[in-house]
Amino acid sequence: MPSPGRLCTRPADPCRAIELGVDFIDTADSYGPHVSEELISETLYPYPDDLVIATKGGLERPGPGQWPANGRPEHLIEACEGSLRRLKLDQIPLYQFHRPDPAVPLEDSISALVTLKEQGKIRHIGLSNVTEDQLRRAQQLAPIVSIQNRYNVEDRQSESLIDLCEQEQMVFLPWAPIQNLGRNRIVQEIAQRYGATPRQVVLAWLLARSPSILPIPGTGSVSHLDDNVAAVAIKLTPADVASLIGNAG
Ligand SMILES: NC(=O)c1ccc[n+]([C@@H]2O[C@H](COP(=O)([O-])OP(=O)(O)OC[C@H]3O[C@@H](n4cnc5c(N)ncnc54)[C@H](OP(=O)(O)O)[C@@H]3O)[C@@H](O)[C@H]2O)c1
Repeated sequence: MPSPGRLCTRPADPCRAIELGVDFIDTADSYGPHVSEELISETLYPYPDDLVIATKGGLERPGPGQWPANGRPEHLIEACEGSLRRLKLDQIPLYQFHRPDPAVPLEDSISALVTLKEQGKIRHIGLSNVTEDQLRRAQQLAPIVSIQNRYNVEDRQSESLIDLCEQEQMVFLPWAPIQNLGRNRIVQEIAQRYGATPRQVVLAWLLARSPSILPIPGTGSVSHLDDNVAAVAIKLTPADVASLIGNAG
């Protein structure tokens, strides 16, 4: 399992990311589609021993800007086979169901992932864009090790799921972790005090918010990658963490 507390990224300069200690990379078959997974294997294969690659299946890309869900078991099986091929892996360390498909019973989709796990094609099952109720239904069928939902200083809809991840030793992967909060007075003030950028403050806040949180900021810039990883060293005080809770401006 990925250990929370290390930042991860899509590769800006993947070798630089590895050099900086990034040991968890999150992607999906739908990114590109396929391009992100292909780039990861082209650049990083053979992988460092401690690198955990997480991918996702369950969305299709019929055209630009279109991301319809497809949670049919046969689609998930085929999607996983494609990810294995593109990533040049025998087993995907963490395979996440990208988003429940309203047209397919959740249990049917999760059962396909259970089959893939039994076949050794995936090691752990994660969920993305789920509610607590959906998590509970999935947990009836298999251990779930991670949840990837949108969460940041301004979007706290998944607040209770983070506490739940902490209680049940799951990892919470907040997507869209970085917001440009340069105009938020409290973020600005904290950034000034720590000699950090507002984006570093919101990343440090995520890391301080819960030991279960593993932020997955994406970047195409090496200097942003450096800045994002450097946010790990910023240790916000409990008072600073509290001052950002419930504050969006
Ligand atoms: N599960 C889901 O439904 C879902 C949905 C969306 C995303 N995700 C996941 O979230 C992760 C990240 O997604 P993402 O790459 O789309 O976007 P992101 O992390 O939400 O944001 C990336 C944006 O922030 C900018 N940025 C990053 N670091 C910066 C810095 N230090 N200073 C200034 N700008 C900075 C990037 O610009 P530069 O390139 O210029 O740095 C880019 O525009 C991925 O692993 C993805 O899988 C999941």
